[in-house]
Parts: sequence; structure tokens; C-alpha cells
Amino acid sequence: MLASDVTELLRRSKRVLDCTLGGGGHSLALLEAGVESVVGIDRDPHALAAATERLARFSDLGRFSAVESNFAALDSLPALEGIRFDGILLDLGISSHQIDESHRGFTFRLGAPLNMRMGADSPMDAAELLNTEDERTLTSIFRHFGDEPRAARLAREIVRRRANAPFETSDDLVGAIRAVLGARSGAGDFARLFQAVRIAVNDELPSLERALPALRDRLLPGGTLVVIAYHSGEDRIVKNAFRDWSAACVCPPKKPVCTCRGRPLGTTITKRAIPASADELIRNPRARSARLRAWRSAE
Ligand SMILES: C[S@@+](CC[C@H](N)C(=O)[O-])C[C@H]1O[C@@H](n2cnc3c(N)ncnc32)[C@H](O)[C@@H]1O
Repeated sequence: MLASDVTELLRRSKRVLDCTLGGGGHSLALLEAGVESVVGIDRDPHALAAATERLARFSDLGRFSAVESNFAALDSLPALEGIRFDGILLDLGISSHQIDESHRGFTFRLGAPLNMRMGADSPMDAAELLNTEDERTLTSIFRHFGDEPRAARLAREIVRRRANAPFETSDDLVGAIRAVLGARSGAGDFARLFQAVRIAVNDELPSLERALPALRDRLLPGGTLVVIAYHSGEDRIVKNAFRDWSAACVCPPKKPVCTCRGRPLGTTITKRAIPASADELIRNPRARSARLRAWRSAE
């Protein structure tokens, strides 16, 4: 199970940074497994409030604290300035709680508002994005974040429809998707294309790309970074970063003499990405796209 993999990888840490606190499930498991202290970050104030309440007994003991922020802004948080950790966790994407709250607009359930902002740091919501971005940008969103072969047609359809009436609810986006993908399109297509819009609204891939080196530099020697990704684009960013950091030389291939750092910064612990177990999938079908990777900094 990915949750027990996370606990196993991080349980020997003294101080853990949980960059995606969500409902606080992983933080709770780590604190119960004996981790001395956990700092939780989430850009969603609702998640932060719920997790803080759930973990109140650990806050009272000085073992848990929480900060509202995008994890990509770690280096500008005065409360965490200069602090290093022996374990760092990223459990990316959105929580079940966020999906279940219809008014947050992460869902394609009928009549949900097109919101999808994880926190106040996302400048525009999904409706604004669909109503204002140009056709090329929309095509790129559906192609790159939604792996949609008919991305250009879908973008054109959205631009055509919004000229008559602005996009306001999930029904508007579902209607455009149905018009392009046909009547046989269903929940899987809606989930994939809504996820593409959510990734764009929250600038998720660039946030991850910016954050990874900063998080690596917050690890103590021998510290472990664990990332669970739910989207192939996210997983690729993590895989490439871990590969680069684990290489002794990162000079361009044709350079005759090595002028780079000339040593690995650490080791990739997971040879291959770990998927959710069959048991886990029965309990939580949303974990089907989850991939866990872990990296350890040099001693
Ligand atoms: C999959 S959930 C985490 C669930 C959590 N591990 C648990 O056990 O309950 C992901 C959480 O990360 C938060 N999140 C996603 N991207 C973020 C970012 N760039 N900065 C801060 N929080 C982020 C989301 O708001 C969400 O609450």
C-alpha cells in the first residue's frame, strides 16, 4: 500500500516536511509511527484547517505545525527559513475531500461551478480560463495535460460556444467535450479533461518543477524525498529530476572534460515507480494512476 510505503520510507526521520498536508492522513501515520515532528504545508486553507483539527493533539505536544502556502514558495516562508528535514513528502494532486465538495468545482458532477482553484494563489478559476484563454493555449492544455488527440477541435468548440454564452458550470464543459468526442464519451474522458483544466488553473507542473530542487536542498545529508504523482507529466518531471541528481556527471554528452559537480547528489531508492497495490485499488479506485518514487541525499 502506498500509505505504508510512505510510512516505511520516512518513519526513521526525526523531522518531516509534508508539503501536501491534505486531510493529514500521511502526517498522522508518520507521527503515530514515531516521527518526532511534522510541518505540514497546503495551499488550500480548508484542507489546512481540517488537518490542523485532526492533528490537534500533536500540535499541543509541539510535534505538529501547519503553514498555508504553495510548496513552490518554500524559500519565501519566514517560518521555515533555514530549517532542514530528514524526510520530505509530496502526495500531489487533489484530495478526496476537495473532489467531494461540489462547490469547489473539481468535479464534473452536474451543475458544479467551474472553479478548481486549490488556493488563493491561483490567479484565475476554471471558468475564467475557459472564457479567456486563446484557442492555441486551450489546445495545448488539452493536448499536454489531458493527452487528448482531438485537443484542437475541443479548443475550437469551446471558443465557438463561449461566444454565445460564457462557461459557468461543469455542464458547459461536459457539453463541449460530448460535442467533440461524441455521445460515447463518458466519465473517464470527463475526468481526464477536467483534470487537464485543473492542472492549468493551479499551474501544477511548473510549481512541481520549480519546487523539486529547493526541496532537495532542504534535505539533511541522508534525508529522503518521497513523491506520489497521479499524472504522467508530473511523474516524468520527478523521474528526470531524480535521474539527474543521481548522476555523477551532468555535462553535455560531447564535452571532453567534466566541469560539472562530478559527483552524484544522492541515490534514487525506487528503481521503478511503485504503483498502488491491488488491495488499495479496491478501497480507493482514484489511486489507479498513482506512482511513488523516492530519492535519498548523499551522506
Ligand atoms: C492528494 S492530497 C494529499 C492528501 C494527504 N497526503 C493525506 O494523507 O490526506 C494533495 C493536497 O496537496 C495540496 N497541494 C497540491 N499542490 C500543492 C502545492 N503546489 N502547494 C501546496 N499544496 C498543494 C492540495 O491542496 C491537496 O490538499
